[in-house]
Amino acid sequence: MKDTIRQLIQQALDNLAGQGQLPTGLSVAIQVENTKDKTHGDFASNIALMLAKPAGLKPRELAERLIAALPEDSAISKVEIAGPGFLNFFQNPNALAERLQAAFADTQLGVRKVSPTQRVIVDLSSPNLAKEMHVGHLRSTIIGDAVARVLSFLGDQVIRQNHVGDWGTQFGMLLAYLEENPQAAESELADLEQFYRAAKKRFDDSSEFADRARALVVKLQAGDAQCLALWERFNAVSLSHCQEVYDRLGVQLGPADVRGESAYNEDLPQIVQALQTQGLLTESDGAQCVFLEEFQNADGQSLPVIVQKAGGGYLYATTDLAAIRYRSQQLNADRVLYFVDQRQALHFQMVFALARKAGFASEQIALEHMGFGTMNGADGKPFKTRDGGTVKLIDLLNEAEQRAYALVQSKNPELDETELRQIARAVGIGAVKYADLSKHRTSDYSFNFEQMLSFEGNTAPYLLYARTRVASLFRKLGQSAEQQQGPIRLEAEQEQALAAALARFAEVLNQVGEKGLPHLLCSYLYELAGLFSSFYEHCPILSCEDAATQNSRLCLAALTGRTLEQGLNLLGLEPLERM
Ligand code: ARG
Repeated sequence: MKDTIRQLIQQALDNLAGQGQLPTGLSVAIQVENTKDKTHGDFASNIALMLAKPAGLKPRELAERLIAALPEDSAISKVEIAGPGFLNFFQNPNALAERLQAAFADTQLGVRKVSPTQRVIVDLSSPNLAKEMHVGHLRSTIIGDAVARVLSFLGDQVIRQNHVGDWGTQFGMLLAYLEENPQAAESELADLEQFYRAAKKRFDDSSEFADRARALVVKLQAGDAQCLALWERFNAVSLSHCQEVYDRLGVQLGPADVRGESAYNEDLPQIVQALQTQGLLTESDGAQCVFLEEFQNADGQSLPVIVQKAGGGYLYATTDLAAIRYRSQQLNADRVLYFVDQRQALHFQMVFALARKAGFASEQIALEHMGFGTMNGADGKPFKTRDGGTVKLIDLLNEAEQRAYALVQSKNPELDETELRQIARAVGIGAVKYADLSKHRTSDYSFNFEQMLSFEGNTAPYLLYARTRVASLFRKLGQSAEQQQGPIRLEAEQEQALAAALARFAEVLNQVGEKGLPHLLCSYLYELAGLFSSFYEHCPILSCEDAATQNSRLCLAALTGRTLEQGLNLLGLEPLERM
């Protein structure tokens, strides 16, 4: 709709310029917004305010001329001038009803990508395998998963890559421990955290052990078969822990999506060589660096990307350069999205800049760091267990399910055990995910079980419940939502408001895909659920006497149900039939 209005305004501007009423060649990005108060129309544009000065007219005067020059369009019923010169557009309810009718008949619910479809790499989750996954990895995993789902739904070809940290100095320590004590190590591996601590203690206590650990890294990186076998065994166990978490979370990530740092091992010397050939390398304290003028410290000195340490070892940045080259040249990606902690922002800015400079990334490819803030405890401080340790993700999910179980049981004591468990899982896991997804990606937030499990406000239980209300309406009626025919007629104010929101689904998903911001979808679904509530309250359905009105309302309810269901699915939540 906004695009239609933008086009209409553009035509009006062209018409006026053609008639000599406006100077030619005026150019400005035409802005069209959704209005808050629908009595002032559905959409508004400030175009007359933007162009008044260059046109040499008063804003209201220009607005009047624009209205006179606007082509007729069946989707718009009227246009008014408001305040200092805003143009307010009123949507034609019949045209809106027709659009919804078409969306209802479409498996895509009328959603299409507005820009050309692309091949997109989504770099997500990417924990370090030396340790157990902890809450810090939750955000990358679920935000990345939600955005990947949205992009696929919009028609992009999405390739998920779990860039796990499976290569680095910590592995020497772990391998030395595994080698030294194969029996005990086997059982300790069940708890990676404990294993890591035990290995670290040996490393700190014994210099002989530490030396062996360092030697093992060198052997490993040189491709020693025995080292590789130990390393593979360790990674297999660690990855199976991750997979357990992914399955529990219901995210679309599996073994085939893993392409860890080690996958680029053989490329690293080539990367350094290529930088050398291009004359970009500088040696500094024995390390190989590229100094980038665009990035400077407080004293105005260029900052380096270090690609090889004095001892010959490669770094996180070197691997990322190799990954960019692979994604650009082998996978032919149009776009790469990195769902990684905001604190790595400078790392990515510098690596992206260098990848372009060195030609590892093609000119057209978009490299976007989708950074996120920190998850804190309810006290606003970094999330820790009572004794100050890191919280294991799996423990957190267990607690969420237990709490949801008690909650659902108290609300609905009649549910049998199997169904109760299923609902508790959807609500508990959904609450954890939704609490995270519904916050702006870049802000820090406090993890709070009470809040996320509340049935009021912008929460998973509220939305899952809203969707069950629609399902129960059709159960009572003894009909399926799919078999509704309408036609949709928009009369009551609540019907129009609900319809206008339903028609915005495609626009919201396009924004989520473009900006990598799932909270926009959360806010939208929350608003939609609220509008459905007031529609349901004010517009009788089951008791409605007029058949045409009833059919129309049923169709609106069915479309709302499907939109909520699709939206929840895209966020990675499990929609429920009842709760
Ligand atoms: N393993 C890294 C960490 O835990 C995140 C990797 C993110 N992806 C990347 N391509 N650098 O901090």
